[in-house]
Amino acid sequence: MPGVAQTSVDEMLRDASAAAESGVGGLILFGIPDTKDEEGSGAWDEYGAVQQGIRALEREFPDLVVIADVCMCEYTSHGHCGILRDGTVDNDATLPLLARASVSLAQAGADIVAPSDMMDGRVAAIRAALDTAGHSDTAILSYAAKYASAFYGPFREAAESTPKTGDRRGYQMDPANGAEALREVTLDLDEGADAILVKPAGPYLDIVRRVKETTGYPVGAYQVSGEYAMLLAAAERGWLDRDRAMMESLIGIRRAGADFILTYFATAAARLIRRGWE
Ligand code: PBG
Ligand code: ZN
Repeated sequence: MPGVAQTSVDEMLRDASAAAESGVGGLILFGIPDTKDEEGSGAWDEYGAVQQGIRALEREFPDLVVIADVCMCEYTSHGHCGILRDGTVDNDATLPLLARASVSLAQAGADIVAPSDMMDGRVAAIRAALDTAGHSDTAILSYAAKYASAFYGPFREAAESTPKTGDRRGYQMDPANGAEALREVTLDLDEGADAILVKPAGPYLDIVRRVKETTGYPVGAYQVSGEYAMLLAAAERGWLDRDRAMMESLIGIRRAGADFILTYFATAAARLIRRGWE
């Protein structure tokens, strides 16, 4: 993906420094372990890349909000977001693993854990585990409305997390279904989620608006890798003005009602806004 690379902890700190200087409020970390296994045990490795990255960020940039993505797909050898039994994802058997990963990330100092796996019951499992481990201050940002999207392609390549068999339609949502998003959101809030994330952003602005209006909770939108790559590719060909297209895409998300945006454009957009973009 143009302008996006896997980084070491040191390189990540340089990116974080540029982000902080531009006025970006926080970062989300995704990890790629040295080795993957069936159950994704790298997700709770105290010395995993994300755990080390969080500790470094809290030390160097204590004012940045640090969000840790919680999912098994970067850590499992098969690339699914949960563990497999007889070739399909076992929802309930995955919950303790997500909880264990969350506690490890909170222990490292994450301000927010963001489960993106879409297993049912995960928010309750994570909340209980965090509270038991003494991390009642760690917030949960739930990817409650996460669609089975074609726009995740570049991320999966970067994170080496494409499922080896099958797809994620068993646990991610059908793009045609709006009502399901509202149901998933209600369940996650009842289980203790502190904020909600809608993903992808651009093709799902109606969902952003409906979630904001029906819940009143903080709602974020994740402008995903494919949305970013599409705009950049067109800009590289001279078909679009990158800055204007970038800002228009972000303003649209904001206008739909998002309180915050996760985007690969964050540092570039923050710089423009600093310079007085209108
Ligand atoms: C899965 C996960 C996905 C992304 C981040 N974590 C989606 C997927 O692969 O199904 C995609 C993010 C992006 O495209 O920027 N837990
Ligand atoms: Zn996943």
